[in-house]
Amino acid sequence: MASIKLKTEIPGPRARAMLERRAACMPAGLARATDIVVERAHGSLLQDVDGNTFLDLAGGIGMLAVGHTPENVVSAIAEQARTLIHSCALLTTYESYLRLAEVLNEVTPGSFPKKTLLANSGAEAVENCVKLARCYTGRPAVICFEGAYHGRTLLTLSMTSKYGLFKKGFGPFASEIYRLSAPNLYRTPQGMTTDQYIAWSLHNLEHAMISQVDPSAVAAIVIEPVQGEGGFIPLPHPFLAKIRELCDRHGIVMVADEVQSGFGRTGRMFAIEHSGVIPDLIAMAKSLGAGMPISAVTGRADIMDASHLGGIGGTFGGSPVCCAAALAAVETIRQPAFLQQALRVGDIIRSSLEATDCALIGDVRGLGAMMVAELVLDRQTREPAPAETLEVVRHAARHGVLLMRAGLYSNCVRLLPALDIPEEQLREGLAVLANALRHVESQRATAAR
Ligand SMILES: Cc1ncc(COP(=O)(O)O)c(C=O)c1O
Repeated sequence: MASIKLKTEIPGPRARAMLERRAACMPAGLARATDIVVERAHGSLLQDVDGNTFLDLAGGIGMLAVGHTPENVVSAIAEQARTLIHSCALLTTYESYLRLAEVLNEVTPGSFPKKTLLANSGAEAVENCVKLARCYTGRPAVICFEGAYHGRTLLTLSMTSKYGLFKKGFGPFASEIYRLSAPNLYRTPQGMTTDQYIAWSLHNLEHAMISQVDPSAVAAIVIEPVQGEGGFIPLPHPFLAKIRELCDRHGIVMVADEVQSGFGRTGRMFAIEHSGVIPDLIAMAKSLGAGMPISAVTGRADIMDASHLGGIGGTFGGSPVCCAAALAAVETIRQPAFLQQALRVGDIIRSSLEATDCALIGDVRGLGAMMVAELVLDRQTREPAPAETLEVVRHAARHGVLLMRAGLYSNCVRLLPALDIPEEQLREGLAVLANALRHVESQRATAAR
């Protein structure tokens, strides 16, 4: 039986009224990928204020590996709220923070002693990684990459790539940030083989230590093992291994930003595990809290301990209710059978997209369930198709499926469903996406005639 049930046009009358209120009371710069006005959600189904039912394949931008309102998370939140909502880790000590720190120390890669700091957002986790790396090394510089997204605070925005969408008008930015190119195999330069491109990228990493910054000034190299906003670009394992080698050779802290790729999304707890590389610090957020605002930094105890007393922390970081939600979510995600589902979800998405007869699809890629279709106007030139991508997302929303764009050129349709989405729901959603792709392609063909 179909899960999507549309009773009104999208947006319906109530949704339209609320969108008008949104325009009046919320800032224009807060982007809105769809006109869906949500009232409630459970599992992978989302209901809007007009009684329409949608399939959610965006998961609040990858927040919901365990789906909407899972029973164990809801009861953990309710139970915690009855006993302790807040007391602040800077003032007191409480069980849920301790337990979550212990669990994250256990589930993250690396057999060395670890410690965990909790915060509220992905950006805050990344900032704390940089602060700790600077304290530990006594050095100022941070290396990050083209295509990276690390957040919107001043420091993390400085580290974020894609100027036009995220940074325009917000400068000046923080100093001592050095941006290097990262290999995107779909855009291998003409005339190079994949192997030559990777070898050239490794050479460029070494070269940057002369041409851009001296390694003795570098505190941290921060890398997303699979670039998220950049368009779900898995970084070649030799590239991650080379970063590890440079960090070891020069005493630099290697930071994996797993805010989007962590917590089962790729079929492992953390995407970096696929490469065998072990970072010094990991920044986490999103699916950690099953929708509750919580983030974490876990890493080598000596680095985590580098700050002076009182140098890190915040009022809300590791709030008991968020910790309780995270403990329940992690308990689900860490089960091998749950992680296995991510691989299955990824396989179904990949085969559906590959079977979709649509000339706009230039590349289907990702790792585990972290999958995109990159849309191009021409498969030879690979010219990006951002307007068509937006239309695909909007068409899918009008037909009951919630999706998002990604990519340096905003030309990727990204899928971030719950990892336990029932197969029939996933296939139903993918069929809507395939229709949207074919519809937009035929519109383009008609316009060209
Ligand atoms: C890899 C990565 N790092 C950091 C962030 C920033 O997280 P937040 O929006 O919670 O600040 C994001 C958000 O999408 C992300 O994908």
